[in-house]
Amino acid sequence: MKRIKTDYLVIGSGIAGLTFALKVADHGTVAILTKKTAGESNTRYAQGGIAAVTSEDDQFEYHFRDTLKAGADLCHEDAVRILVNEGPDRIKDLVSWGVKFSRDDAKNLDLAREGGHRVKRILHASDMTGDEIEKTLLDKAVNHPNVQIFENYTAIDLITEHQVLDNLQFAFNVCFGVYALNNVTCEVEAFRADYILMAGGGASRVYLHTTNPEIATGDGIAMAYRAGTKIANMEFIQFHPTALYDPEHEPFLISEALRGFGGILRNGRGERFMTKYDEAKELAPRDIVARAIDSEMKQSGEKCVFLDMTGLPATDVKNRFPNIYRHCKKYLDLDITRNMIPVVPAAHYVCGGIMTNLNGQTSMHNLLASGENAHTGVHGANRLASNSLLEAVVFSHRAAMKVLQKPGPQFKVTIPDWDDSGVENDEEWGVLRHNRIEIQTIMWDYVGIVRSKNHLIRAMRRINLLYDEIEDYYKRTRVSKGLLELRNMTTIAYLITRSALSREESRGLHYRTDFPRKQEKFHKDTVI
Ligand code: FAD
Ligand code: SIN
Repeated sequence: MKRIKTDYLVIGSGIAGLTFALKVADHGTVAILTKKTAGESNTRYAQGGIAAVTSEDDQFEYHFRDTLKAGADLCHEDAVRILVNEGPDRIKDLVSWGVKFSRDDAKNLDLAREGGHRVKRILHASDMTGDEIEKTLLDKAVNHPNVQIFENYTAIDLITEHQVLDNLQFAFNVCFGVYALNNVTCEVEAFRADYILMAGGGASRVYLHTTNPEIATGDGIAMAYRAGTKIANMEFIQFHPTALYDPEHEPFLISEALRGFGGILRNGRGERFMTKYDEAKELAPRDIVARAIDSEMKQSGEKCVFLDMTGLPATDVKNRFPNIYRHCKKYLDLDITRNMIPVVPAAHYVCGGIMTNLNGQTSMHNLLASGENAHTGVHGANRLASNSLLEAVVFSHRAAMKVLQKPGPQFKVTIPDWDDSGVENDEEWGVLRHNRIEIQTIMWDYVGIVRSKNHLIRAMRRINLLYDEIEDYYKRTRVSKGLLELRNMTTIAYLITRSALSREESRGLHYRTDFPRKQEKFHKDTVI
């Protein structure tokens, strides 16, 4: 078995992984593992932008309060203070690395507004902010002599004290690296490091309808869970109110920034319905808008609602949202300045994840986590728009500063070869595909925007069955990327459903028809 030793090992090449890598690279060797090509990530598709206090009309206290309000009393205030106060410095880092945010004619940052923000606060690069950030950071990482990027490697599992041969010296949970599948050679290799950062991104592919690309199967959270790390608040899945309704093509987001620009939501009868649901109308927090759309669709039986940009100056709309304009024209032959855009809610973001402290450290020695797969406490029960990219840069920076304080613990351990003796080599693609769709359908139908005990129990029964089946299949079969993802998705489905069942109240993104109100006794994180 091939073995690679590095000082810092990073799983994931999105904003969280790359930020950490760039911060530690001058101090040691860095290996970045990434499942597909390095640029493929949720980061790449981010549209709206990154929130931070940069204008004179804004205050740290406003950003702090807006974040807490969206989070429905479950945010960790110390983490939110850090997010907000350190945000502007991390924006300076991005700019110094070469990220070009949109500016007005006077070269001032062009700030946008999104739901839940009381002022214009969102820095953006046109409507392709993520693409600009991903390309810039990746370019810096690729050109750093200490950084090596391993594309097409799927991390399988963490190597902990349970696997190593000389484990008696450890009376605590500790991580030494990962086993990873080289997707091209189909061989398993071992990566060993002093510090490991899990930055594997989101998990929204566990739902049938999502804004996320294929990579978002929750691998980071699932691996950490299997290794015994604490996981928190998995019931809080954010459904973005406005994904493009286009069943024929890959998911595409219609950014919240369009509503911030004046877009109006209308039902099939052309009525502006958000006025019935919240005084902030289209700019209410996402959970409220997504539930309002869900309710309109259920009442009318229609497959989507519409976002209306037709009352706004056409040239401004085209200039501000060139990517969205092009996409709708290309795939639906629809001119968004003249026609309403069909939209539906879709799974978008996981607010919970691997529990960390304020420096990205998890409950396992040497293992850190950052980005969408981490639970730092900043989002509470509902993430405020454009706080995710910010969370990733702020907490990856803090994680990097923490590990740079002292050299890695240089444990002497023997990592055994990957043992696949006795397994079969059968790729039952039909089984994998079928099980994947089954999980996605169960999650969409029973653990979606509106939940109840009956539905959650029904989901849990089916997930448990699939879980056993897939574990059995996993033990008998040579690993493949498809099988690893399926195994992780089943784990994520289990974690979300178990957490959703245990929270017998409605709060933020978690809405239960059988417990429609917030309850004081649930004013705490769900920790597994
Ligand atoms: P990602 O960027 O998803 O990177 C994860 C990386 O991990 C990938 O490189 C992947 O290949 C790798 N990986 C996963 N599993 C494995 C494995 N087993 N082995 C090896 N590698 C693995 N947030 C905002 O703040 N503002 C926005 O405007 C915004 N818009 C969005 C628009 C869309 C369409 C989407 C989907 C999300 C948006 N978000 C936005 C959310 C935000 O983009 C993500 O939360 C954020 O980019 C996550 O960054 P990350 O580095 O944690 O993960
Ligand atoms: C969007 O552009 O609407 C996405 C913003 C986010 O997810 O924060």
